[in-house]
Amino acid sequence: MPAIVIVGAQWGDEGKGKATDLLGSRVDYVVKPNGGNNAGHTVVVGGEKFELKLLPAGILSPNAVPVIGNGVVVNLEALFHEIDGLEARGADTSKLKISANAHLVAPYHQTMDKVTERFLGKRAIGTTGRGIGPTYMDKVARLGIRVQDIFDESILRQKIEGALRQKNELLVKLYNRRAIAVDEIAEYFLDFAERLRPMVVDTTILLNDALDRDEVVLMEGGQATYLDVDHGTYPFVTSSNPTAGGASVGSGIGPTRIKRSIGIVKAYTTRVGAGPFPTELFDEWGEYLQKTGGEFGVNTGRPRRCGWYDAVMARYASRINGFTDFFLTKLDVLTGIEEIPVCVAYEVDGVRHDEMPMTQTEFHHAKPVFENYPGWTEDISGARTLEDLPENARNYVLALEKLSGCRISGVGVGPGRDQTIAIHDLIED
Ligand code: GDP
Ligand code: IMO
Ligand code: MG
Repeated sequence: MPAIVIVGAQWGDEGKGKATDLLGSRVDYVVKPNGGNNAGHTVVVGGEKFELKLLPAGILSPNAVPVIGNGVVVNLEALFHEIDGLEARGADTSKLKISANAHLVAPYHQTMDKVTERFLGKRAIGTTGRGIGPTYMDKVARLGIRVQDIFDESILRQKIEGALRQKNELLVKLYNRRAIAVDEIAEYFLDFAERLRPMVVDTTILLNDALDRDEVVLMEGGQATYLDVDHGTYPFVTSSNPTAGGASVGSGIGPTRIKRSIGIVKAYTTRVGAGPFPTELFDEWGEYLQKTGGEFGVNTGRPRRCGWYDAVMARYASRINGFTDFFLTKLDVLTGIEEIPVCVAYEVDGVRHDEMPMTQTEFHHAKPVFENYPGWTEDISGARTLEDLPENARNYVLALEKLSGCRISGVGVGPGRDQTIAIHDLIED
């Protein structure tokens, strides 16, 4: 049976958590392949709201085994805080497995994240401040601490010492901070070792064996295509690869085993943090979408910047992720808008671009070319088939499908699991 990957098609917060939850009862494993506790996924189950940051949303699906893959950066304090919070609410987290190769976020990574942002001043990224970038920096610099290291105290101390030798120079001499002691960090990690040990396995064997047994593995990407360090709006990105290819690396599931690549896309666009955003609204419509859509970050509480749907971005995302399906979310938020603009191309210095411009400078100067679609006023939250939608809402969905490069297989009309229009089956069709 197949591996399926869920990928954010915009700048995050598209509703990946809801889409994962929707499929959760039909899959055997849900693996998070990238990112860390910079994510924020809201899942509404039976009217009860859950907010997940580090754990895959699949942890709320009782039959699925939740897995934290090798591509994730794990903050152990955040992990156990989240586990305890879920257990207190009656969720069962006992099946959670964590890759021995995942990297650990150390307290000094969070410090580095904050001082670097301050140092950047006007050029700050607007990170979540969770130490994600500095942890991935250490991974690539070969100075990282991995989950497996905390089970070998002597190795752990050696690695911390190596990482701190450089970090302390920066902290003391450049950022005017105190030096951090090896013992302090070693104790911080070792305190978690006993509780962590039973969860740690070679997740690549676990997941590939499951696929050999014809079980279904869902990869739940965090962040999104335009936050991808290679394909996103660099440098205003996160430090991992949230695209479909990254899910393969971050889980150890080879690309030939991935049958479906599902792009989660909002019926409009939002972004948290800094960086270019061609369809961003600065007028009352921006406020309208923010208010009606409840567009405030789960992770940091920051208001999300809002704009109209951008079909150029969706098309490009579809291509680089090899999307087989789109799952369109939050269509209900557009109810009541008389005319809905959709960006179909950009104009850059008087020249029309039907595809993403090649350079960052061009993208920063891109002005959206809009086509307007007639809106609807009927409440659509009870619609369960395309036919249940008012004609204009249906036409809006079909127009986006035509413009965005691949079929739309599901449509969200509310935050609840059942508030979904199923068009094509996301596992079988
Ligand atoms: P994620 O990070 O991609 O999982 O998305 P977030 O959870 O950060 O943000 C999506 C928000 O939209 C959450 O509050 C969801 O409960 C909500 N949501 C998801 N799908 C729909 C939908 O179709 N309609 C409405 N109204 N809300 C939705
Ligand atoms: P989910 O999984 C929205 C953004 C931050 C910042 C940039 C870099 O909920 O869609 P980082 O802390 O990762 O170094 O910040 O990326 N960002 C997100 N924006 N949703 C997310 O996750 C995000 N994760 C990171 O706001 O602009
Ligand atoms: Mg989110």
